[in-house]
Amino acid sequence: MDPTFAAISGRYDFMTRVMSFGQEQRWKARAVSLIPKRGGETRILDLASGTGDFPLHIRDAGFTAPIIGLDRNPKMLEVSRQKCAGQPHIEFLQGDLLEIPFKDQSFDAITMGYGLRYVADIRHILKEVHRLLTPGGIFVCLDFGVPKFRLYRHLCFGYLLLLGTLWGLLLHGKGSTYWHIVESLMSYPGQKVVKAWLQEAGFGSAGLSSFSQPFGPKHKPRTPLL
Ligand SMILES: C[S@@+](CC[C@H](N)C(=O)[O-])C[C@H]1O[C@@H](n2cnc3c(N)ncnc32)[C@H](O)[C@@H]1O
Repeated sequence: MDPTFAAISGRYDFMTRVMSFGQEQRWKARAVSLIPKRGGETRILDLASGTGDFPLHIRDAGFTAPIIGLDRNPKMLEVSRQKCAGQPHIEFLQGDLLEIPFKDQSFDAITMGYGLRYVADIRHILKEVHRLLTPGGIFVCLDFGVPKFRLYRHLCFGYLLLLGTLWGLLLHGKGSTYWHIVESLMSYPGQKVVKAWLQEAGFGSAGLSSFSQPFGPKHKPRTPLL
């Protein structure tokens, strides 16, 4: 089990709201609004589903087909299953992003919130996402942006480190509890590189938009329409 997320699963939702000053629900809803409504049923997979926010936003947006959330952490899955209990056709599976257990072209849309920067081989995951999507399918990926300018980047990371340390001490008695946020960002290549990798993975178009500076850019790549 991943000890970082196991330890914070019960506080995860509270922390994301606090760290984003209450903005991240709006960002998630906005990311979901980018999924086009195809006639018929849109099959959707949420990767690194965590506590299940994306599946709930997807339902709120009016998608009625079954939604699958995939995450490797049993504690996060416990929270997501509780939160989505009573919601028809939302299912959570335990699994690793490095071995996604679905056949080619199983989904019309794939979402991922704050998950990409936790995997060592991002290019491999993007190829997997492309494999899983139907022609014309869409991948909506919400994550932190990495600011281009060094000073600004250091300020942003410093803010996350300081706030994370304070909340880590307050909620868990351990200042380092939320350092994984900055650590993952430091090894993340940033939105522009990810955009290039998306194209390399076979996505015909990949757009970037910033929901708020410096946080919340999202990648909106589409597979080519074959
Ligand atoms: C920051 S949380 C994001 C949760 C949720 N998507 C959201 O938007 O709030 C990252 C999630 O990615 C999951 N995760 C990280 N690496 C993973 C991997 N290799 N396979 C599956 N899940 C992974 C963690 O267990 C955690 O639940």
